Amino acid sequence: MRVFVADHPLITHKLTVLRDKNTPQPTFRLLIEELMTLLAYEATREVRVEPCEIVTPVSPTTGVRLSEPLPLIVPILRAGLGMLEGMVKLVPTAEVGFLGMVRDEETLEPTTYAERLPESLAGRQCFVLDPMLATGGSLAAAIEFLFARGADDVTAICVLGTPEGVEAIRKAAGDRRVTLVLGALDDGLTDQAFITPGLGDAGDRLYGTVDH
Ligand code: PRP
Repeated sequence: MRVFVADHPLITHKLTVLRDKNTPQPTFRLLIEELMTLLAYEATREVRVEPCEIVTPVSPTTGVRLSEPLPLIVPILRAGLGMLEGMVKLVPTAEVGFLGMVRDEETLEPTTYAERLPESLAGRQCFVLDPMLATGGSLAAAIEFLFARGADDVTAICVLGTPEGVEAIRKAAGDRRVTLVLGALDDGLTDQAFITPGLGDAGDRLYGTVDH
């Protein structure tokens, strides 16, 4: 598994504002989207392209276009939805599938409650969006789901991750093609499995609290 942790002052600056508990919801949403666009640049470094011929106003030339099947972007509901626009801005022709997952607050086990993905993902490059990689249970389950459908290359983009989460994904990935792109690697997990220092509950900060 390849792991990339961002190291750019603009990303760290935006992350600092995102982490601040006094940052209001509209700013939080905007920053998640902006951070996604910055991380997407690295995450799509190996997106598949093929040569194509075009004619400029001056002369014919060879360029590249995205190969088919087009990449599939998969935000993990709820919090991953906040990253979708930031990714689509960079790859507007990609297709989008949805996975709804929630982590049980006691057992920390993820449950899949919604799924809207193509039946076959054979030959697809998939880009999974979830701001938080805590224990890694949710992302590991999502990656498993995509490989079971036939995906052959999965890149996960998370705003924050933990060493525990990275190890869980490494284990889940085995020798399959998985890339992890993180905005920052935090210290670890609290007793309640929250990322520390983290940013709190990304889903709640984006969309408000839900009753469980
Ligand atoms: C959060 C987060 C991840 C998951 C991370 O979602 O967005 O999906 O928890 O935890 P893990 O790495 O330990 O599995 P949550 O279950 O709170 O759902 P939400 O996005 O609907 O708020």
